[in-house]
Amino acid sequence: MDVLPLQAGRMAGPEPLTTEVIAAQVVGAAVWAPSVHNSQPWWFSVHGTGISLRADPGRQLMVADPAGREMMISCGAALFTARLALRSLGYIPETRVLPDPAQPLLVAEVSWPRRAAPAEYERRLFDQVLSRRTHRGGFDPAPLSPRLLAVLTDGAERHGAMLRVIADEGGRAALAAAVETAERAQRLDSAYVRELAAWASPPGSTRGDGVPATSYPARYEPTAPSFPGRDFAHGRGWGLPRFSLAAATRAAGTVCLLTTADDRPADWVNAGQALQRVLLTSATCGVAAALHSQPLEFAWLRELIRAQLSDRAHPQLVLRLGTVIQTAVSIRRPPASVLLAGGEPLRTSHG
Ligand SMILES: Cc1cc2nc3c(=O)[nH]c(=O)nc-3n(C[C@H](O)[C@H](O)[C@H](O)COP(=O)(O)O)c2cc1C
Repeated sequence: MDVLPLQAGRMAGPEPLTTEVIAAQVVGAAVWAPSVHNSQPWWFSVHGTGISLRADPGRQLMVADPAGREMMISCGAALFTARLALRSLGYIPETRVLPDPAQPLLVAEVSWPRRAAPAEYERRLFDQVLSRRTHRGGFDPAPLSPRLLAVLTDGAERHGAMLRVIADEGGRAALAAAVETAERAQRLDSAYVRELAAWASPPGSTRGDGVPATSYPARYEPTAPSFPGRDFAHGRGWGLPRFSLAAATRAAGTVCLLTTADDRPADWVNAGQALQRVLLTSATCGVAAALHSQPLEFAWLRELIRAQLSDRAHPQLVLRLGTVIQTAVSIRRPPASVLLAGGEPLRTSHG
């Protein structure tokens, strides 16, 4: 069976589509969710009248993410995208998150028993699925509109998460220092360095996963305060030429913490759903996001951030939001290779 080309807002006609056709469309969109190191730690299967989304433990970052928290956030982002794709086709998703305690890797089961035309905002979010990119660097100085920030915080709340804007200079500096401390420590830790290197491919690679050299700047773009990015190139000169010829030091953007009240796998999945809603909503307004999970990969730094900056809610991700001209290009594995029907990939060739 062929995977249909993804078409934004293409509603199903009066005749219901087959489960396989819907699943192919939905997975074709879901794979474009963000994931830590672009590890894409998921696979999908068709079951009766719906699809199952499972975490793929073979793609978990065992050094940086031994608990699988970032893996589940990534799967949550894919889940939100899958649900949005169903809405764009005119179906109403019914979702059970972590439905079976005996199967902790079964992230969600989604079916679509009813139909209704997508709302305008759902179409607009869906239109951003393929083009949204993670930004790595500084932003233009213009602040985000309070109206957009209100929509983003409201969107995160819909998934039981909280997007906290860290607006005061002290808080921004403290969070920047946490990112810098973590980044420095990880660059000196051979296990981290080896793991990161395994997910960072050289220019010209034909891999469909990992962080390609087309998605980060070759030279660190200093921001004020300084939020260093991960060292994907590891001194090999890989990466894009400077994103912008503007001032040498650029704005860090609007600094936010995505948090949840609890810290169980279900909270991580919710944080992932909230993350993708925030990213896509931002993208509809031309706003990009830089993500920093480095400090949350150290228990003591995560605890410090929790105590000092998030009212004891559990920090799940650091985000910086702002406007910028983006040139980053990302990659994905072909949807057919992560969509199994009866235990077999629906289609195995690239496309
Ligand atoms: C849980 C999570 C943590 C992430 N942490 C970082 C990070 O620390 N640094 C970074 O540059 N990108 C981070 N990312 C972004 C991924 O690297 C990015 O989503 C992936 O490379 C795919 O690229 P795209 O988002 O442009 O499609 C993270 C994404 C997720 C979901």
